[in-house]
Amino acid sequence: MERTEFGENDLRLCLETLDRIEAKTHGMNLKYYIETYGCQMNEHDSEKLAGMLVRAGYTKAETKNEADIIIFNTCCVREHAEKRTFGNVGFIKELKQLNPRLILGVCGCMMQQKEVAKRLFSRFPFVDLVFGTHELKNFPSMLEKLLDEQERIFRVTESDGEVIEGLPVERAPGFATFVNIMYGCNNFCTYCIVPYVRGRERSRKPEDIVREVREVVAEGYSEVTLLGQNVNSYNYDGMTFPQLLRLVHDEVPELKRLRFMTSHPKDLSDELILAMAELDRVCKHIHLPVQSGSDRILKLMNRRYTTADYMLLVEKLRAAVLNVELTTDIIVGFPGETEEDFESTCELVRSVGYANAYTFAYSPREGTIAAAREDQIPEEVKKERLNRLNAVLASTFPANNEKYIGFEGDILVEGVDHRGEPLLFGKLSNFKMVYVEGDKSLIGSFVPVKVDGLRFNSLYGHIVKTEA
Ligand code: 5AD
Ligand code: SF4
Repeated sequence: MERTEFGENDLRLCLETLDRIEAKTHGMNLKYYIETYGCQMNEHDSEKLAGMLVRAGYTKAETKNEADIIIFNTCCVREHAEKRTFGNVGFIKELKQLNPRLILGVCGCMMQQKEVAKRLFSRFPFVDLVFGTHELKNFPSMLEKLLDEQERIFRVTESDGEVIEGLPVERAPGFATFVNIMYGCNNFCTYCIVPYVRGRERSRKPEDIVREVREVVAEGYSEVTLLGQNVNSYNYDGMTFPQLLRLVHDEVPELKRLRFMTSHPKDLSDELILAMAELDRVCKHIHLPVQSGSDRILKLMNRRYTTADYMLLVEKLRAAVLNVELTTDIIVGFPGETEEDFESTCELVRSVGYANAYTFAYSPREGTIAAAREDQIPEEVKKERLNRLNAVLASTFPANNEKYIGFEGDILVEGVDHRGEPLLFGKLSNFKMVYVEGDKSLIGSFVPVKVDGLRFNSLYGHIVKTEA
């Protein structure tokens, strides 16, 4: 595959532009507000936009009302996203009337669908800037142009995508953060819009990934999630994902926890299972979207595995990786899904015993193969199946949780939960959430806990005193 790289010169130009904006707007106390929809990939893109805005002299606004620039980073994976975005963008009109110098930008996956982007741009004349997913690198020059000329900008280009290194990132505060290892997707699952709006698969250089992980650890993050639409197809000059995982693990010994997301079952190798089992700081959790429990539907979805293949992976993971937990994504109501297909999905959910699952009603996405099928399932059937699936899922949780009574492990304390008695909460390595009594000064640290009971789909326990 041809790989277009964002060169040193491009980076220098970007940074110079941002510094020029900072010089021009110095003392104006400009503020930014970014509203993000969708997945972690989008969240992380927003962190990059924020990084550029901070370099340009902006600070974060707490509310939209005090912002000088508002950016909507949109998603189009499921319906309603479009309606919601159109609605929320519409609300900004009032703010524009109160603050005429307010800049309103809309970007992200939904804007990469050119027709939708055009519709939004013409429907809302007060939107100043619309840009697609391949334009992050052009954000500095677009912002400068807007500030200088106050002319609307529409920039959506077709591209396989590229790998951009070195732009500043303003990470959400906390103890866990994300590092991209690859972009795009080549899988073309027949229901999914992602390959059309995120371009082809392209992997980052291992040394750039390791450098970024080192940087975030130096900034104080304890946990890193390596991100990709399908991390298992990471490939940089022959380096595979399990090799990359080992590299990051070994090169950054100060990193306390290493996670990764998302794994496509068709590419999950024995080598990865072994790496998960052997590397002590790699978390014992895998997000393994199954999508359906019917082989017929999996085939129509172009998932390229059978339920038997999937169950074999589950077996192998459980045999090799101590205390491993699985989470998944499931779609109900894919075109042509019969009651029998749906029952097979419920059966699979019962037999796997997931720690958790994200369940969705199928939503036709224009331009995808499945959206063109004539055997679409009525909305009410989809809704009803979704409810039934969620009930099946919930019925599997107690059995999965009860085995934890008496379990001991470390949690990374994330915060205080105020539903009822205030309790600290944090996750075990395998992603199970545990609530314990304790002082809020423990937030951000690893504490050993013992599980005494269940709380919702989580665990309740106490802090185990360690010998000093
Ligand atoms: N309809 C419903 N759910 C979808 N997903 C992706 N595309 C669609 C769609 N058209 C779900 C899949 C995927 C998750 C991120 O979103 O389950 O794994
Ligand atoms: Fe979409 Fe399938 Fe790619 Fe995941 S692997 S992003 S579901 S096309």
